[in-house]
Amino acid sequence: MKIIKVHDYAEVSLNAGEMILEKVKQQSKLVIGLATGGTPIGTYQCQCLIEDFKRNQTSYKHVHTINLDEYVGLNVEDRHSYAYYMRTRLFNHLDLPHEQTHIPNGVASDLVKECHRYESVITSLGGVDLQLLGIGENGHIGFNEPGTSFLSKTSVVELSPLTRKANARYFNSLDEVPSHAISMGISTIMQCRQIILLASGEKKAKILQQLLSGQVSEQVPASILKKHHDVTIIADQAALENYHGDYLVGF
Ligand code: F6R
Repeated sequence: MKIIKVHDYAEVSLNAGEMILEKVKQQSKLVIGLATGGTPIGTYQCQCLIEDFKRNQTSYKHVHTINLDEYVGLNVEDRHSYAYYMRTRLFNHLDLPHEQTHIPNGVASDLVKECHRYESVITSLGGVDLQLLGIGENGHIGFNEPGTSFLSKTSVVELSPLTRKANARYFNSLDEVPSHAISMGISTIMQCRQIILLASGEKKAKILQQLLSGQVSEQVPASILKKHHDVTIIADQAALENYHGDYLVGF
């Protein structure tokens, strides 16, 4: 595990954008795993992705994307859905073919079947080359909340009260935040060939400290990443304010 410590959110975004852009240019076929939430917004907008496309027309026609999760009960037109988020914040601004973008269907009539379908999409694409992750204040990755088995595959998960509260900022009220989501499983995430985890701001300081200095435990889902062979954490000073350990590079 390697940590790139940078000054602020803008630098987190830029570093992540650069790593993604390099892969897009390097590989003739690329599967990128994407995250939603507040943290990756700057990465998508930064001069390396949307801005780079405007300026240099770097093509994404050879790229497939796999999103981490989707709320149960929200369809692709719902402005709170992650499908809507990804279209408006990234996909519509690149030449990425729509049929090469994959997000779980949160309104599938059979949600369990949808989870199996999603796993087979990932398998049929040959797995994920580069997975972008955020981290919840309780250590969740994807929507795999504390207590989730490290062996989990894509499944329907219940959002914890803390997660629903954190995400209520995007809805009119807490009541509107869905109670469940479909999330890529922890073992599915661990199979990704390379992982970048982004963290910014003091709200993430406590969990980063726990992740980096504590034991690997299902109570801190992100702690399993210590057992992955290629994880880079890109975090700013505020998120790393409690950590002064060994993994640091840069800065
Ligand atoms: C989003 C996701 C979540 C978020 C996490 C942090 O697709 O899977 O794990 O990355 O909840 O969210 P923000 O970035 O809003 O703090």
